[in-house]
Amino acid sequence: MKIALIPGDGVGAEVLAQSVKVLDATGVAYESQSYDLGGERYLRTGEVLPDSAYEELRGFDTILLGAVGHPDVKPGILERGILLRLRFGFDLAVNLRLVKLLPGVESALAGKGPTDIDFVVVRENTEGPYVGVGGGLREGTPGEIVTQESVNTRFAAERCIRFAFDLAAQRDRGEVMLCHKTNVLTHAGGLWQRTFDDVASGVPGVATSYGHVDAVCLWMVLDPGRFDVIVTDNLFGDIVTDLGAAISGGLGYAASGNLNLDGTAPSMFEPVHGSAPDIAGQGRANPVAAIMSLWMALNQAGERDAAARVLAAIEKTVADVAPRIGLGLSTEQVGDLVAKAV
Ligand code: IPM
Ligand code: MN
Repeated sequence: MKIALIPGDGVGAEVLAQSVKVLDATGVAYESQSYDLGGERYLRTGEVLPDSAYEELRGFDTILLGAVGHPDVKPGILERGILLRLRFGFDLAVNLRLVKLLPGVESALAGKGPTDIDFVVVRENTEGPYVGVGGGLREGTPGEIVTQESVNTRFAAERCIRFAFDLAAQRDRGEVMLCHKTNVLTHAGGLWQRTFDDVASGVPGVATSYGHVDAVCLWMVLDPGRFDVIVTDNLFGDIVTDLGAAISGGLGYAASGNLNLDGTAPSMFEPVHGSAPDIAGQGRANPVAAIMSLWMALNQAGERDAAARVLAAIEKTVADVAPRIGLGLSTEQVGDLVAKAV
């Protein structure tokens, strides 16, 4: 495997180093190259993602990313310039995000255990309000006006929805819920609902349902056991997966893969996100989300045996030490334990 590493900002480097340690323990043969991208480089050189690096990245099999976001850099520069440029430019169609409470981890929800919180979110990853269509006039005056449009194509919705159905068909429960806001966003919601219904009619074995995004948030807190696979647009997917992280132990446990579905570019794997500048450099970040993201990368690369060993090692380690992660047990020590278990 040819793997590109983008440690990025804040705790990104600390957690990504643990994934690499675990990858080494698997014995999988790989070559890697690390790319110095992120807030520090931007502040030093003014460069966000040089075109040469962007083109090189396209040649890898997989990208592992830590996090982007720096307190001294204006919001949007790194996010749009690195993360979104790669998601859009490499056509990383699906952002697959796990919401899985591992045994040993305490949920923020009282009385909920691993059997109650075990679902996935298939987040559309290339469109919605994220694309940046729109603009403004008269900035900074009382007459200021802006628009920020949500772009929705049948093409992008359909490939995500198909992915969600294929995934559901492989899961025990096999249920897909469309999450949107069709009662208000009638144009975009209509496109998503029609596409969903058309795909569903061709996949008879998979049960379907629909939830408005506000209600989905309510159920994620009151009754997360009702979800199996949720498919949703880019912005709703962003928001519900932070809530998903909150109920499954926090961002330190939330793994994700930005998946290229047509082989034209590498997929990119990352914790659901947060450079966590408040704890950066202290060795307190939980690396499990990053290591789980490595597990997803190995699976996608067809390294099934290594992936299975990584997952078993994560589960064992977490079951043993979860309450001490970040509280006495450092990022490095957690990485060492998982690597040893592999
Ligand atoms: C995420 C993050 C990103 C997003 C930011 C950093 C641009 O919040 O991966 O969820 O909004 O997609
Ligand atoms: Mn987010």
